[in-house]
Amino acid sequence: MATQRTALITGAGSGIGAAVAQALAEAGHKVVLVDRDPDGITALAAQLGGVARQVDLADGEACRALIAEFTASGQGIDILVNNAGFQHVSPIETFDESAWNGILSVMLTAPFLLTKHCWPHMKAQQWGRVINLASVHGLVASPFKSAYIAAKHGLIGLTKTTALEGGECGITVNAVCPAYVRTPLVDKQIQDQAAHNNLEPEQVVAEIMLAPAAIKRLIEPEEIGQMVAYLATDNARSITGASLTMDLGWTAR
Ligand SMILES: NC(=O)c1ccc[n+]([C@@H]2O[C@H](COP(=O)([O-])OP(=O)(O)OC[C@H]3O[C@@H](n4cnc5c(N)ncnc54)[C@H](O)[C@@H]3O)[C@@H](O)[C@H]2O)c1
Repeated sequence: MATQRTALITGAGSGIGAAVAQALAEAGHKVVLVDRDPDGITALAAQLGGVARQVDLADGEACRALIAEFTASGQGIDILVNNAGFQHVSPIETFDESAWNGILSVMLTAPFLLTKHCWPHMKAQQWGRVINLASVHGLVASPFKSAYIAAKHGLIGLTKTTALEGGECGITVNAVCPAYVRTPLVDKQIQDQAAHNNLEPEQVVAEIMLAPAAIKRLIEPEEIGQMVAYLATDNARSITGASLTMDLGWTAR
């Protein structure tokens, strides 16, 4: 059996994060489920035999304390999955500054802080995995999502830089870049766009979300879970600094 590691997954209470936690637990790892909402992580941690920590990742000191708890107990985080995120949709001229700051703090600053605080343990043992949930919107843009897209492009920059620094330390760092995945985050966008454009939800998916895709379907969260679980294996040790597209062919265009 593969070595059992400790994996911390942010935003593990819902959608992609929950599927990633499930896949890593199935691969035999101990899982630490982090979310600002306690309900999903408490139930899932009990189911997976993991632990749950309620943390607001917008709070930098809370990010530090989260990792310090595991370092102090001698356990340390071996696999870090930066996944938590949310959307705010608005034209730039009316884009709310606090919404901009909130998105940047959770989706770019928190991954930076968590990586920084996990690094000494990974470096000392010459083994570590950092997997950042970016997006196809880390590679291309769409209108009205300026903070989200800036954060995702920034996360790919962080991925590349830390991959270069981790090369000599047995640490790989990669970004996963999906198109639309069937999760509560996307369900809300479908409902919002249906109301805004006076369309049926199925039309929003077919005519707007899947318009640039070669494969016309939403991605299932379990597909992302399997990709992350693979990146956490020793077989994936040559993959680093990569932005792995799971975008149904969107960026082939
Ligand atoms: N769903 C998609 O189509 C899609 C596509 C590409 C990338 N992504 C990315 O995947 C990640 C997960 O998205 P999802 O669709 O599963 O969303 P989701 O809304 O289902 O889950 C996100 C989780 O993050 C948590 N979270 C948000 N802010 C937090 C904070 N301040 N502190 C702690 N936890 C917080 C939420 O409570 C929630 O449980 C996000 O980074 C998203 O940008 C999603």
